[in-house]
Amino acid sequence: MHPEAEPRPRAAPRPAGHKGGAKADQPEEKSAGKEKDKGAGQCKYSGELRGTIEQSILQKASMVKWEDLIGLEDVKKKMMETIVLPIKNPELFTGLLTPSKGILLFGPPGNGKTMVAKAIASQCGEEVTFFNMSAGTLTSRYYGDSEKLIQALFAMAAEKQPSAIFIDEIDSILGARSSEEHEASRRLKTEFLVQFDGVGTRQEDRVVVVGATNRPFDLDEAVLRRFTARIYLPLPDLEARSKMIKGQIKTVKNNLSEAEVVEVAKKTERYSFADLRAVCQEAAMGPIRMYDYEQLAKLKKGEAPPMMAKHFEEALGKVKASVTKKNLADFEKWNSDNMKR
Ligand SMILES: Nc1ncnc2c1ncn2[C@@H]1O[C@H](COP(=O)(O)OP(=O)(O)OP(=O)(O)O)[C@@H](O)[C@H]1O
Ligand SMILES: [Mg+2]
Repeated sequence: MHPEAEPRPRAAPRPAGHKGGAKADQPEEKSAGKEKDKGAGQCKYSGELRGTIEQSILQKASMVKWEDLIGLEDVKKKMMETIVLPIKNPELFTGLLTPSKGILLFGPPGNGKTMVAKAIASQCGEEVTFFNMSAGTLTSRYYGDSEKLIQALFAMAAEKQPSAIFIDEIDSILGARSSEEHEASRRLKTEFLVQFDGVGTRQEDRVVVVGATNRPFDLDEAVLRRFTARIYLPLPDLEARSKMIKGQIKTVKNNLSEAEVVEVAKKTERYSFADLRAVCQEAAMGPIRMYDYEQLAKLKKGEAPPMMAKHFEEALGKVKASVTKKNLADFEKWNSDNMKR
């Protein structure tokens, strides 16, 4: 998606019984009992909020692996140095090596920010609790309660540390403040800053906040200042594009040579990973378009002719790069203006 063509919808309140609410709707007593065991200092949030947050903890088994990420070698290196290793070996990362508490992943849409965050979770291993919060969860059905959710999130992250809080699409909740904005949204931002500073000042806390956005330009200044490590996820280069296309087409019958794959990759400059996936999906439809619906209903897997280079020619005519030259220039400029470690 073009980051400017279609503004990201603000997170809508979610109806009761959504997937994050299943646990949240459990009887209070059970969670309340659990909280009692943890001592008075940690009873600040209700079982319901706890349930919502527990739903956000990523299950390591089903996650994206480091090896699944194509390209992004520099990004992976930075992730290891700024997130994974400091959280795993805090004794080493002290003094000058003290890591940032806030890490911002930014770059054009459809380019692996969410995927990278999930890979970080698996790379961190079992001992690290990974909270995967989307803007939608944080502006939950109790919109006015978002600040409590933020408080509870940071409290739980501290309780279960070492931990990483990942907030996806951070621009949609922590965008620049404006005079027209809703009171609840202002309170959420303020609470985020307060909680973040709490984590930031307790050096012994092993909690990091990772935010992802494709609209870094829209972030609130105060929020941005706290994300001292900023990692740019650029569009895939020729090699990464070839690898992505190769990976995608291996799931279907095709007769594309290595050279033909590289040819396609050369024609997809400025395409994001998500765009490349869309091109491959479109090209895969090519061989079966010669059949009518009746034939398609009966066609057996493997009966259609293989996918060929010409199908990519057609697909490239239909699927265009979602990032424009102007967008890309904006990202590159923001990257050079705002890069710090
Ligand atoms: N490095 C990568 N290697 C392999 N596939 C990738 C990579 N990056 C992205 N993809 C593919 O592109 C899709 C979109 O990626 P992802 O959702 O992580 O993008 P994003 O940067 O978070 O986009 P948005 O800004 O719109 O949220 C993934 O589901 C995956 O199929
Ligand atoms: Mg994303």
